[in-house]
Amino acid sequence: MTDVSDGVLHTLFRSEQGGHEQVVLCQDRASGLKAVIALHSTALGPALGGTRFYPYATEEEAVADALNLARGMSYKNALAGLDHGGGKAVIIGDPGKDKTEELLLAYGRFVASLGGRYVTACDVGTYVADMDVVARECRWTTGRSPENGGAGDSSVLTAFGVYQGMRASAQHLWGDPSLRGRRIGVAGVGKVGHHLVDHLRKEGAEVVITDVREDAVRRVLDRHPQGVTAVADTGALIRTEGLDVYAPCALGGALNDDSVPALTAAVVCGAANNQLAHPGVEKDLADRGILYAPDYVVNAGGVIQVADELHGFDFDRCRAKAAKIFDTTLAIFARAKSDGIPPAAAADRIAEQRMAEARASR
Ligand SMILES: NC(=O)c1ccc[n+]([C@@H]2O[C@H](COP(=O)([O-])OP(=O)(O)OC[C@H]3O[C@@H](n4cnc5c(N)ncnc54)[C@H](O)[C@@H]3O)[C@@H](O)[C@H]2O)c1
Repeated sequence: MTDVSDGVLHTLFRSEQGGHEQVVLCQDRASGLKAVIALHSTALGPALGGTRFYPYATEEEAVADALNLARGMSYKNALAGLDHGGGKAVIIGDPGKDKTEELLLAYGRFVASLGGRYVTACDVGTYVADMDVVARECRWTTGRSPENGGAGDSSVLTAFGVYQGMRASAQHLWGDPSLRGRRIGVAGVGKVGHHLVDHLRKEGAEVVITDVREDAVRRVLDRHPQGVTAVADTGALIRTEGLDVYAPCALGGALNDDSVPALTAAVVCGAANNQLAHPGVEKDLADRGILYAPDYVVNAGGVIQVADELHGFDFDRCRAKAAKIFDTTLAIFARAKSDGIPPAAAADRIAEQRMAEARASR
């Protein structure tokens, strides 16, 4: 019998990308909840990862996305030095139309039923206010508001982590972590991007920005009357003459067959998730001599923050953990050099090693 679920079962049990520990399909007819919770690994501790609320075209697509995202979280958490495995949940639906209190509470009960094997947080389509609701039914919820014991907006520490990754890139390439006098292009000056610009200006870098939203650009230019200029779009930004670093801080897929050949920067280091549009782009960057700081390594400040929240959020402790992104990024570049592979592949190897060691010691 051939079934549409065959693809998912193949991914789960037989493919290289599979090997997940557990997948939970959740349904609550009263509220209309349909969700998938995927636990890729609990080798390092309870699986941690956000809840994506998205109108998937099919249930199979939702399961496939949950599996893929959960796997990514295992790697991210391992490299962030967290005692957490990787997991992710997806809720099928349009967050603008289908998100109700009843649905979020039902979802919280499903997460609670896992007894702490999975800890949830925000992701695309879910916000701090939603986690406050989920937390009413489930103590394994993080990413809540400060009024409810949470740490709130994670973009401050995400930006700080990216900044540390950038300093490590400068150290590796130019023998000095200082970004003073460097020309840095930031594409997307939203929650993370505008905090990143603050760090860069404070250190004396010259910053070029772009954003599709004029108000976002204006906010940054008003805040920094000197040392920041804006260009029309990302295409113009990546072609800017004398650019030292390109920081994609908008959407995924920023590094692709069109953008990589056009890049003038020597370093790519930014907050956006899934920057490499397809496998092989990391090699194209390496072939052009462009140093790529893997996205999931340098943007881990947010997950470091939500993990810290579980122990009673402490900003200074968390900032100290996020500062270690500097050392981790350097270690990845060193491994890439010694193994003769791109940094993205080196990051994966280091993460896999940490998970294997944890499994072996159990
Ligand atoms: N917020 C976090 O803590 C966090 C953590 C890890 C990763 N990330 C990733 O970092 C990226 C930015 O996150 P954010 O929270 O700042 O989101 P955001 O929505 O606040 O900011 C994104 C900005 O990019 C702009 N943008 C969208 N398309 C663009 C385009 N084509 N060209 C130029 N600008 C464009 C938007 O107008 C917006 O101002 C996302 O990829 C996100 O997944 C964020």
